[in-house]
Amino acid sequence: MKPYLLSSLLYLAGIGMVPALGAAESETAAPDAEASAVVAQPDVKHGAAIFATICSHCHHTDHTASAVGAPGLMDVLERHDEAWIDQWLQGPEAFSKRNEAARDLVASNPFGLIMPTLPEMQQERNRRDIIAYLKTLKSE
Ligand code: HEC
Repeated sequence: MKPYLLSSLLYLAGIGMVPALGAAESETAAPDAEASAVVAQPDVKHGAAIFATICSHCHHTDHTASAVGAPGLMDVLERHDEAWIDQWLQGPEAFSKRNEAARDLVASNPFGLIMPTLPEMQQERNRRDIIAYLKTLKSE
């Protein structure tokens, strides 16, 4: 009786673990095709650090536009999807030449400014981490 009970418990614990691990993996899996096993999980803290040193010069984290007309980034993931933001970050000017929403966004700047193409945003890892941080800017 006892060995049987023990092995049942181990079995239940085992199947309990499988869905939990599966869920964790699918949640952290990178969405794009070039993602491979070597691509680490997004680092929100690193994203927050990038924001503080670079983006915060022009962007607020609430809904208010800044003095240079940069939109507040609260709820930005509701305005654009990840793939759009990824391309925007890599090269706002280049992207605005081939994407209508990006073109409209640039045109809407009251000072005729365009977000600069930032050297730091040429690295996929940095874009991934900053997007993970932007996801935390949710008003609910
Ligand atoms: C020199 C100022 C400046 C810096 C630095 C800057 N941005 Fe921007 N950003 C802008 C402006 C201005 C716009 C509005 C579009 C335009 O005029 O180009 C914008 C637009 C955006 C948008 C689209 C927002 C929306 O509501 O549609 C996102 C997302 C964004 N920036 C993210 C970032 C991130 C992340 C960083 C840091 C890596 C950053 N920006 C750094 C000026 C800046």
